[in-house]
Amino acid sequence: MANYETLEYDVLIIGAGGAGLRAAIEASAAGVKVGLVCKSLLGKAHTVMAEGGVAAALANVDDRDNWKVHFADTMRGGQYVNNWRMAELHAKEAPDRVRELEAWGAVFDRTSDGRILQRNFGGHRYPRLAHVGDRTGLEMIRTLQDHGIHLGIDVYMEHTILKLLKDGDRVVGAFGYDRERGRFKVFKTRAVVLATGGIGRAYRITSNSWEYTGDGQSLAYHAGAELIDMEFVQFHPTGMIWPPSVIGILVTEGVRGEGGILRNREGQRFMFAEIPEAYKSQTANDPEEGWRYTQGDKNARRPPELLTRDHVSRCIMNEVKAGRGSPHGGVFLDISWIKEKIPNAAEHIKRKLPSMYHQFMQLANLDITQEPMEVGPTTHYIMGGVRVNAETQMSSVPGMFAAGEVAAGLHGSNRLGGNSLSDLLVFGKRAGEFAAKFARKHDMGHIDGVEIETAEREALEPFDRASKGTGDAEGPYQVQADLQEMMQSLVGIVRRQEEMEHALDGLARLWERSRNVSVHGHREYNPGWHTALDLKHLLTVSEAITRSAIERKESRGGHFRDDFPNRNGADGKINIVVRKDADGSMQVRPEPIPEMPEHLQQAIDEMK
Ligand code: FUM
Repeated sequence: MANYETLEYDVLIIGAGGAGLRAAIEASAAGVKVGLVCKSLLGKAHTVMAEGGVAAALANVDDRDNWKVHFADTMRGGQYVNNWRMAELHAKEAPDRVRELEAWGAVFDRTSDGRILQRNFGGHRYPRLAHVGDRTGLEMIRTLQDHGIHLGIDVYMEHTILKLLKDGDRVVGAFGYDRERGRFKVFKTRAVVLATGGIGRAYRITSNSWEYTGDGQSLAYHAGAELIDMEFVQFHPTGMIWPPSVIGILVTEGVRGEGGILRNREGQRFMFAEIPEAYKSQTANDPEEGWRYTQGDKNARRPPELLTRDHVSRCIMNEVKAGRGSPHGGVFLDISWIKEKIPNAAEHIKRKLPSMYHQFMQLANLDITQEPMEVGPTTHYIMGGVRVNAETQMSSVPGMFAAGEVAAGLHGSNRLGGNSLSDLLVFGKRAGEFAAKFARKHDMGHIDGVEIETAEREALEPFDRASKGTGDAEGPYQVQADLQEMMQSLVGIVRRQEEMEHALDGLARLWERSRNVSVHGHREYNPGWHTALDLKHLLTVSEAITRSAIERKESRGGHFRDDFPNRNGADGKINIVVRKDADGSMQVRPEPIPEMPEHLQQAIDEMK
């Protein structure tokens, strides 16, 4: 007999980072009853890892900026497989969303005449990132939390959703448990917004913390929604690599935006060696010009360290492979060199990059105002996810909406830094608005008790296997660690057919092992149990990434194949669509991307 508490909301939002909070604010302001579920404590979200700024064409620092340039940069960064309508909406609406955030109390850094200050970031033509030192995501979360808290939203902290419940085609509920007591809950609802973020924990080296196990992508997939672009995983070029306990922690792109340079162990600025053809005209070919750009010289071109993340990460890997890496297997990122250029450089660095200063001081005993950092690529973001309608953010399943990292389309094959924060504001708002509208038009729907009983039984199986002595004696951690190691080495920054096929075989074995893991103890705060339940999500997204990566026989953005190193031109302008078949197997198919309307094509052509 199932044993659970039932709660009812018009709109249930799963995930309480920037996208979830923004959606909750919008839905609540529309007058519907909103529940907000977060896996961790409220405010602890990967949003804070977008440190260097939020991208919006405010044109406060360079008046040549406008939505068309932002749109064109986003499309080029994504190598033209973006959902162009999402890219258009995003570029047009981001400035209003940032100003709104300011009105709600976000304290941005200022220009000398009191406007929101903007800094340079990779792939953005003009200084476009509104920022709060190197703590922009944190300030955004704080502001959204402060604003949302007064709107009567019910928050369920430390709750994990395990399954979406359906009535026919439509999503009408969610089944989960509270991590503290281990008790089950059923949330009945008229509309669900998924805002669970990314999948970083499918890899060994990641900037993501423990919560990011692909829950939203997997919940959506198992409930019948389509995923797209799952092959496009972003490896941020600069994560910490030393000491071992901090591997993967993000080193913001803001360091390079403020003039930081990359060098190999021979002291060379290797990024100057390989500037892609498409970027040559916009990239400085001497360090002096690059420096002037970071200091706001409108006539200078950007240094190659500020090319897109996919390119910079691959250049770093090439240096390491060629034996020119730093002692711990990365390269050097140096901001201390600016003391040659400006007086009081140490104070300047501490003011512009306070978190980086403290992060390295406390975790690596290194003073970044005096010495270079050692850095290397870290799994940071997934461009792929739930396929959504550009206007409403509804998925292919009625009543299921998605926003932020869990949704796909805006970023194409590679996201520009800072576009994640504007993404979650623009599309979080839209998801909340349209979920509320949907909720007003639909009833609560019916949830089948048998479905709940099945979900409950499945959730408790790891305990049953331990008590009955069935299954393997293996716990969930080894399965998780083996998966992370395999994805890192076989489906990572550089990919090959045989290796990915090998990964598929490995995934089949890991699926099998995951069905046999046992956990001991009781249900209260049992991290082993939680990890056992996360495995289904991690394996689902890892399989989707691997199958999609095999299907895309070219290199584009975050997906680089050694065996197909070039872009496929028009033939590559496809989405790889992932869907669960009736027999439970995972199907992938290519689908052409619709032609862009004339006015958007023109915006891109003008920028060329
Ligand atoms: O480097 C960073 O500050 C990250 C920003 C982002 O991912 O948008």
